[in-house]
Amino acid sequence: MNTELYRLVYLSQNNIAGDGDALHKEISQILRAARENNLKNEITGALMFNSEYFAQVLEGPHHQVESLFDRIQCDERHSGMTMLGFTAIESRSFPEWAMAYIGEESNLSDRFFMIAEETNFDLDNVSGDIVVETLLARLQQSTETSGEHKAA
Ligand SMILES: Cc1cc2nc3c(=O)[nH]c(=O)nc-3n(C[C@H](O)[C@H](O)[C@H](O)COP(=O)(O)O)c2cc1C
Repeated sequence: MNTELYRLVYLSQNNIAGDGDALHKEISQILRAARENNLKNEITGALMFNSEYFAQVLEGPHHQVESLFDRIQCDERHSGMTMLGFTAIESRSFPEWAMAYIGEESNLSDRFFMIAEETNFDLDNVSGDIVVETLLARLQQSTETSGEHKAA
């Protein structure tokens, strides 16, 4: 079995209907399951969400990342996955996070805008690296201001 560390990055479209409480409840459920399962499966990463899109980074042993992604892909709460990369990595970018979450702040759409802008608004040009860098930078900012997001 391949025990090297891998990183998978994808974007997807939100299918969760409604807003406010209903949406918040679903996202909380996703994060609860993610954090519980990921800790057991040596997965770390980050999830970003605005009302339209998800962006997620999954890091861990090849087999674990692959089987988690198979499961996530079947989840009807999102669809239209765009895979941005599945590559071997030297070390984790989110070693302390079973699943960090960046979302629901008022300037969130700016984050997607930033990713879009850096790629000239061409989704085919969005690389996994850009998503990882953006998430890390934003996570750093929100940790400095609130310190609430640490998951593992
Ligand atoms: C955008 C998105 C991201 C998700 N990320 C994870 C994850 O990182 N880990 C995980 O175990 N489940 C994740 N899920 C949930 C899975 O699709 C699935 O519902 C869950 O793993 C089932 O867990 P359970 O068998 O413990 O109930 C995600 C779902 C969505 C829609």
